[in-house]
Amino acid sequence: MKSNTKVISFANSQLYLLLNSKFILLTLLKMGLLSGKNVLITGASRGIGRAMAERFAEEGANVGFTYLSSVEKGEALQKELSEKGTTIKGYRSDASDFKAAEELVGNFVKDFGSLDVLVNNAGITRDNLLMRMSEDQWDEVMRVNLKSVFNLVKASTRTFLKQKQGSIINVTSVVGIKGNAGQANYAASKAGIIGFTKSIALELGSRNIRCNAIAPGFIETEMTEQLDEKMVAEWKNAIPLRRAGSSREVADVTVFLASDYSKYVTGQVLQVDGGMLT
Ligand SMILES: NC(=O)c1ccc[n+]([C@@H]2O[C@H](COP(=O)([O-])OP(=O)(O)OC[C@H]3O[C@@H](n4cnc5c(N)ncnc54)[C@H](OP(=O)(O)O)[C@@H]3O)[C@@H](O)[C@H]2O)c1
Repeated sequence: MKSNTKVISFANSQLYLLLNSKFILLTLLKMGLLSGKNVLITGASRGIGRAMAERFAEEGANVGFTYLSSVEKGEALQKELSEKGTTIKGYRSDASDFKAAEELVGNFVKDFGSLDVLVNNAGITRDNLLMRMSEDQWDEVMRVNLKSVFNLVKASTRTFLKQKQGSIINVTSVVGIKGNAGQANYAASKAGIIGFTKSIALELGSRNIRCNAIAPGFIETEMTEQLDEKMVAEWKNAIPLRRAGSSREVADVTVFLASDYSKYVTGQVLQVDGGMLT
């Protein structure tokens, strides 16, 4: 009788172990590449930023994101992503405003406890040939595209230093590498981001803070929607992969740079352009 009880309790403990390890395995399978990481993305109400917020949440990250004019879209995104099970919070904040960026990072750290990944994605175009480009068109693009990156990185650095780790991802463009007629302001701002990224990688590498840039090529979003059809067809034809990219394809590369799979990658500009500049 005693030995029967022993056998049953041994069988029970084996069953318990089996069920427990199955649970652990299932939990591990459910964990994403960014499980537990706290990510802040600027300009995620639409386009590439929105796709990044979605992909990061799918990979288990807690995501804070900003928007400026698209308030309804920002609020809807917060609601939609919260259903994926991680902490999600949208902030209305102007990335080009130094003080607002400081406030934003302060609020993010208060809300999430730490900051692991910063993605500087907010950007605009104000295209014109140089002959017709106004001072305002130049200044606005510089403020939103380039100064915003300085603002956010400057505001985040103390937190990254305290944590002894961090990954910064800045969104530049193939136009910042090659230049583009009619986009001197945009190209200059995006080229500036590349110089800034490499400098920060050099300054902060010894503290285990990485800084990389991604350079999307032609990606179908609201930003590129207004372009002339004939020009778009010519561009597509010149791309080795013969098509435009999607926001999700850009977001996938950002997931890599945010994850520990890129732990030894810093100071790089990763082109996501279907081979456009090859
Ligand atoms: N699409 C492409 O082919 C392409 C190619 C290369 C690089 N990029 C770069 O990728 C990034 C995203 O482009 P996209 O095509 O997704 O553009 P998009 O659809 O026009 O979205 C731009 C995002 O930036 C936000 N934003 C603009 N000004 C802001 C500010 N001052 N503060 C905070 N957020 C601001 C917008 O938010 P609100 O609407 O709320 O203002 C929006 O969420 C940009 O940096 C762009 O230069 C795009």
